[in-house]
Amino acid sequence: MTDNSTNDTEQQRTLPPKRSGVPFLGSAVSFARDPYTFYEDLATRGDIVRFSMGSTELAAVFHPSDIKQVLVEEVERYRKPADARGVDILSEGLLLSDGERWRQQRKRLQPLFYQDRIEAYAETMGTYAAASADEWAASDGAVDLTEVTSAYTLRVLGKTLFGIEAEKHRQAIRAGAEAIRERSSESPVAVDVPKWVPTPSNRRYQRGIAELETVINDLLADRSADTDGNDLLSLLIAATDDDGNGPTAGEIRSQLATFLFAGHETSASALTWALYELGRSPDVADRLRNEVDEVVDGPYARVPDLPALEYTEQVIQETLRRYPPAAAIFRETDTGVSLGGYRLPKDTYIVLPQFYVHTDERWWDDPLEFDPSRWDRISDPPGNRPEYAYFPFGGGPRHCIGMRFARMELKLALATIARHCHVDHRYETIDVDIGSTVSPAEPIEVRFEQRDTTGK
Ligand code: HEM
Repeated sequence: MTDNSTNDTEQQRTLPPKRSGVPFLGSAVSFARDPYTFYEDLATRGDIVRFSMGSTELAAVFHPSDIKQVLVEEVERYRKPADARGVDILSEGLLLSDGERWRQQRKRLQPLFYQDRIEAYAETMGTYAAASADEWAASDGAVDLTEVTSAYTLRVLGKTLFGIEAEKHRQAIRAGAEAIRERSSESPVAVDVPKWVPTPSNRRYQRGIAELETVINDLLADRSADTDGNDLLSLLIAATDDDGNGPTAGEIRSQLATFLFAGHETSASALTWALYELGRSPDVADRLRNEVDEVVDGPYARVPDLPALEYTEQVIQETLRRYPPAAAIFRETDTGVSLGGYRLPKDTYIVLPQFYVHTDERWWDDPLEFDPSRWDRISDPPGNRPEYAYFPFGGGPRHCIGMRFARMELKLALATIARHCHVDHRYETIDVDIGSTVSPAEPIEVRFEQRDTTGK
C-alpha cells in the first residue's frame, strides 16, 4: 500500500514536466508556426507543462480545476505579468494594473457596467447594427468582415462609453489597436528587441501608438462631446476632482487607450467569426433566422427580446468557445505556489490558454465542430463538464468588466443582422491567428444580401 501523504509531499516538490525547444530560440518557432499543434504537443506531457519562448520561461496550465485555482481560489498568489508585453500605453489602465491601484480603478469604473446602464446602451447597439447591415447589403461587392465588424463595435463603444461619433477616429484607433495586437502577437524573441531600436516592426508600432495618442489628445481636448456626464472620461475626471487621490493624467490616458482597445477588437472578433459561421453553415443560419423572425418585431432587436433569443445566445456561446477572442490569460506567481500537485517557484510566468482548453477533447465532443446545438440545455450548464473548461471572459475578481456589455452587444447585433441580411461566402475553412485576439489569418470577404422581411 502506498503512503499517499508522503507521495503528495514528494510530488509537490516536483516542478512540472518541461518541453525542451530549439536551443536559444526556445519554443517560439513552433508556436508561431502552428499554435494548436504546439499546445496539443505540450498537453500530451501533462496538465501543467513548462516551456520557453525566447528568454521567457512559461508554464501552460490545462486543467480547469487548476485554472480555477489561479483565477479564483488563490487569486492573491498571482499577479498580472510585470513586463506588460511591451505595450506601455496600456500599462496604467485597468487591464494591466495590479494590487490596490487596480482595486480602486475597478471600483471607480464599475458603475459604467451596472445592468441598468448596459440596458441603456441597447438602443445604440440595435440601431447601429440595423444601419450597418443595410449599408453592407447595399455595397457593390464583397466586404471585409473584420473591417466592417470592427467599424460597428467601435461606433457602439464610442457612442456608449465615450459619448462620441467614433467614425472620424476609426483609422487612427485601428492603427493603434493593430500596433498593440501585433506587438502582443509577436514572439517574445521579437519583443526582446528594445523599442528604441528602429526595426520595421518597432517603427510600425510607434506610428500606430502615435495615431492612438492623437485620438486620446482630441478626446481630452474636446470636452464638448455629446455626453450626459456619465461616460468613461467624465467618471475619470470626476474622480480626480475628489481629493487629489484620483487618477493621474498618465492613468487617464492609459485608461482611455485600454477601453478603446479592449472594448472593440474582442467583440469585433466574435462577431466576425459568428457571421463567418452563418455563411458556412446553412442549418445554423436557418435556425437563427427562424428564431429572429419570430421574436424580433421591428427593424432591430431590443432588451425585451433578449430572453426569447435562446438560439442566438447559443450561437454566441459556441462562437466564444470555438474562437475565444482573448486567446489566453497570463499571470505570474507572486509567491511559490503548489498547483496541480506540482511546485511552481515565485515569478513563474503562467499561461491559461482558452483557445486550447475550449477544444480539449476531455470536455468537448467534436471540439473543432462549430455546433451551437451543443448548448441546447443552456439553462443547465455546465453539465458534467468542469466549470473552467469554458472561460471566454476569464474568471474571479479580474474577469472581463465588459462581459455583460459584450454579451448584449453580440446578441442584439447578431439578431438584428440576421433579420436584415443573409451572409454569403465561399470559404470552407479559415486559419486562426492566435495573437492577443483570436482572429482570421486572412481577410474574409463576404457578401451581405438584403432580406425581404415585408409581411413577417
Ligand atoms: C467578446 C468580447 C470580450 C471578450 C471575450 C473579453 C475577454 C476578456 C478577458 C478574458 C479578460 C480577462 C483578462 C485577464 O484576466 O487577464 C478581460 C478583461 C477586460 N476586459 Fe474584456 N472582453 C470582451 C469585451 C470587452 C469589452 C466590450 C470591454 C469594454 C467595454 C472590455 C474591457 C475589459 C477590461 C477593461 C478588462 C480588464 C478588467 C480587469 O482586469 O479588471 N472587454 N476581457
